[in-house]
Amino acid sequence: MDEWINDINDIEFESHGPVRRALKTMVINPLVNYMPAGLTKGLLKLAKSELAHANWNDPGGWRSMVISYEGKPGQVADKILVGGGSVPTALRNRKRLGAAVLTKLIEQNDGESAHILCLGAGPGITIIEALKSTESPAHATLVDISNDAFDYGQQLADRHGVGDRVRYVLGDVRDIDELLAEPPAIVTMIGICEYLTDEQIVEIITAAASVMPPGAAIVFNSISKKHGTDRFFRRVFGLHMNHRSPLELQALMGQAGFANFTAIPEPLGVYHMIVGRRLP
Ligand SMILES: C[S@@+](CC[C@H](N)C(=O)[O-])C[C@H]1O[C@@H](n2cnc3c(N)ncnc32)[C@H](O)[C@@H]1O
Repeated sequence: MDEWINDINDIEFESHGPVRRALKTMVINPLVNYMPAGLTKGLLKLAKSELAHANWNDPGGWRSMVISYEGKPGQVADKILVGGGSVPTALRNRKRLGAAVLTKLIEQNDGESAHILCLGAGPGITIIEALKSTESPAHATLVDISNDAFDYGQQLADRHGVGDRVRYVLGDVRDIDELLAEPPAIVTMIGICEYLTDEQIVEIITAAASVMPPGAAIVFNSISKKHGTDRFFRRVFGLHMNHRSPLELQALMGQAGFANFTAIPEPLGVYHMIVGRRLP
């Protein structure tokens, strides 16, 4: 394991105490998983849940991520889902862990300004947090197949004083060699692998590897079924996530020439943030 990982110890994570964990395992998760999906959907519609609507419109899209990341929804149903749900809580932890890992990688970079390439970036919240939290020079190219999130992301970056260091690019990450002028020191695939098949991951990562110099870092996350609500997400939100262990993902990344992986869990154990290096 890289030694610098040990320095990542001042993150304000959220966690669930033993009573809440037991309540979730024995009561809440079985209830939400096995309650008739039509009834749950009806209740969420009645309660005007923004999180549910965001997922119904675009399952696993960037807007539902933002609602969870911000953690301060207006509707009562969303306050319960976003504040207490394991996945939204783990998502906020993932964002903090991802930003801390990226900050470290930026600070380790030898070049003039670390170029970060974000694949499936959405608004790029994790990257914006990393850019604003370090004095070291860095800039990011944020690629997404939809430009829906770009205005939101640019405004967020402007508010945090890093607006001139982000560039949004509309495109399919599988065509990354045609979209990119400058080789990246760091590539991120955060919040995207869980929506892709093995074949799609290998295709994307092979394209990314073709623009990365040896030693460049790749940052991605795994997701485990430890959140206990996969049945709920599939039936109620229409969200079909592919759960893979860090080792399973590392094996896929290995097929495209990446190695020397380090996997760091967030406290709920739902997500691991994984860093690997492009082999020569
Ligand atoms: C769940 S969002 C994650 C956004 C952001 N990375 C985050 O962690 O908040 C997944 C994003 O990947 C984008 N995406 C999916 N497939 C893509 C592709 N082939 N090329 C570019 N973007 C893609 C989607 O449009 C969406 O914005």
